[in-house]
Amino acid sequence: MKAVVQDRYGRPDVLHVEDVEAPVPGDDEVLVRVRAATVTQTDTHARAAYPFLWRFYAGLRRPRWRTLGIEFAGEVEAVGAAVTQFNVGDRVFGGPRTFGTHAELICVPDDGPIVRMPAGLSFEEAAAVTDGATQALATLRGANVQARQHVVIYGASGSLGTAAVQIAHHMGAHVTAVCGTDHVDLVRSLGADEVVDYRQEDFTERGHTYDAIIDAVGKYSFVKGRRALKPHGVYIATDGGRFLLTTLLFAVATRIAGGRRVKGSLGRRSKEDLELVRDMIETGAYRPVIDRRYRMDEVADAHRYVETWHKAGNVVLTIAPDPTPA
Ligand SMILES: NC(=O)c1ccc[n+]([C@@H]2O[C@H](COP(=O)([O-])OP(=O)(O)OC[C@H]3O[C@@H](n4cnc5c(N)ncnc54)[C@H](OP(=O)(O)O)[C@@H]3O)[C@@H](O)[C@H]2O)c1
Repeated sequence: MKAVVQDRYGRPDVLHVEDVEAPVPGDDEVLVRVRAATVTQTDTHARAAYPFLWRFYAGLRRPRWRTLGIEFAGEVEAVGAAVTQFNVGDRVFGGPRTFGTHAELICVPDDGPIVRMPAGLSFEEAAAVTDGATQALATLRGANVQARQHVVIYGASGSLGTAAVQIAHHMGAHVTAVCGTDHVDLVRSLGADEVVDYRQEDFTERGHTYDAIIDAVGKYSFVKGRRALKPHGVYIATDGGRFLLTTLLFAVATRIAGGRRVKGSLGRRSKEDLELVRDMIETGAYRPVIDRRYRMDEVADAHRYVETWHKAGNVVLTIAPDPTPA
């Protein structure tokens, strides 16, 4: 099968398409023929081993996972002997426990984060659901967001941001979305009650206070944001890059000191969360936002675009076109 591989860390040029051995499903695994995947910030961090801490997880000297990609949509190609939940031909989406979706085939545990696709969604749309939505659920739960609370989603136009705006709105929260000029209409269409253009205005200078601030893009800071938090408000940082250590320090310090808190967020994907989001999609409460699509052999260009930090929603990597498009 064909897969995007890398044998060393570095710039996007380290990625290339290669013929590799196809995976064979274990007894409790589902073999999925991947139709579409995405290129995420997690993929770019893992490709470049940035920040350096990544190497302790992903391989000190060279990448432990040759093939990146953390979400997929495709068709079940085969199932292991003990699989009960899926049949050959089912259209499914989800994510592996680690990496590997930038390939024509991938094995996923039957009880892992994989579910049937909602009706009416293309493979490309379904591929762009898992990472943003499950991470958004984790951040909103981390902040214990409740109906009628006032929540800021900072960086509302990215993958995590577009998911967080829609889910917070669905939870009944009052959503103030902060994004750039070009994305104001998009973010409003996703359910934001108020939209602040960060290029024109700093939301903390509006004189409002909020129950939670979700920094969905890792470009703001608790030090600036804290004045806009209510006394027991929560600031959720999501950045896995340059602010990682600062976030950890503030998280420990504010936990000890009490009052306004900083928390990090590590989303754990589950089948239950994917079912929840699928229900939201089927009732029209959620839609994956897609910016650009790239072919598998254009993967380096996709990484370069993601690294601009200006994508709106998600960047899709088309692995194989849908033979029977809806
Ligand atoms: N994607 C996920 O679901 C996920 C999962 C786990 C962790 N994370 C972490 O969460 C962070 C965000 O990931 P992402 O994939 O959602 O990012 P992303 O989609 O690449 O974010 C891009 C968006 O951020 C906006 N943006 C850029 N600079 C900004 C600024 N200074 N202020 C406000 N908005 C700004 C851009 O809008 P403009 O073009 O208008 O500037 C653009 O729409 C990353 O650190 C990632 O590692 C994300």
